[in-house]
Amino acid sequence: ALRRAGNIHWQHLDVDKAARARIKGQKPRVLWFTGLSGSGKSTIANLVDKRLHALGYHTFILDGDNVRHGLNKDLGFTDEDRVENIRRVAEVAKLMSDAGLIVLVSFISPFRAERRMARELFAPGEFVEVYIDTPLAVAEKRDVKGLYAKARAGQLRNFTGIDSPYEVPEAAELSLDTVSDNAERLAQRVIDFLTE
Ligand code: PPS
Repeated sequence: ALRRAGNIHWQHLDVDKAARARIKGQKPRVLWFTGLSGSGKSTIANLVDKRLHALGYHTFILDGDNVRHGLNKDLGFTDEDRVENIRRVAEVAKLMSDAGLIVLVSFISPFRAERRMARELFAPGEFVEVYIDTPLAVAEKRDVKGLYAKARAGQLRNFTGIDSPYEVPEAAELSLDTVSDNAERLAQRVIDFLTE
């Protein structure tokens, strides 16, 4: 359980989020990519990031595999640890959006409740949930990292889609079907959504 600190007061800061974003000439946004392991989250987030960067936007990617090497290296893959993983990354995304950035978050983020919790940290329209819709059979067949094979062999416990749940988004702003479309075109759909 988390220990909560007492006697903590919110410190007012004079330079606010709007002022920071104005300097960058952009609207802060959080693009929240969710989907199974091997669904293509990182690939598509990377392509979106590259294009936004080329258009002159100040962006930053938070990626599960990377954040788990540093900030969240104390966390594993139990339900409880995934909840804490997402709580922390949502708070980091909030700090970055307060700094005026366009943040791309790429985590499995398997639970609806935590994705909702993340969304609620942001103003209406700021949080864009992007579901990378790849069926389990397809992600498993690709098995880029060999993790599905390990999970099926019982060498890896609590693997998403095998013996740990993934709750499909019900109201994502964007749903990207990676079976019928390629990554470049799907990345462009995200850009179009943002620039509309
Ligand atoms: S979560 O559910 O949001 O907390 O997961 P995330 O932080 O995105 O980490 C997912 C990456 O960790 C690797 N990995 C596992 N994934 C799922 N289940 C288990 N048990 C597991 N063990 C290790 C895996 O490479 C995931 O990367 P992606 O890019 O999603 O394939």
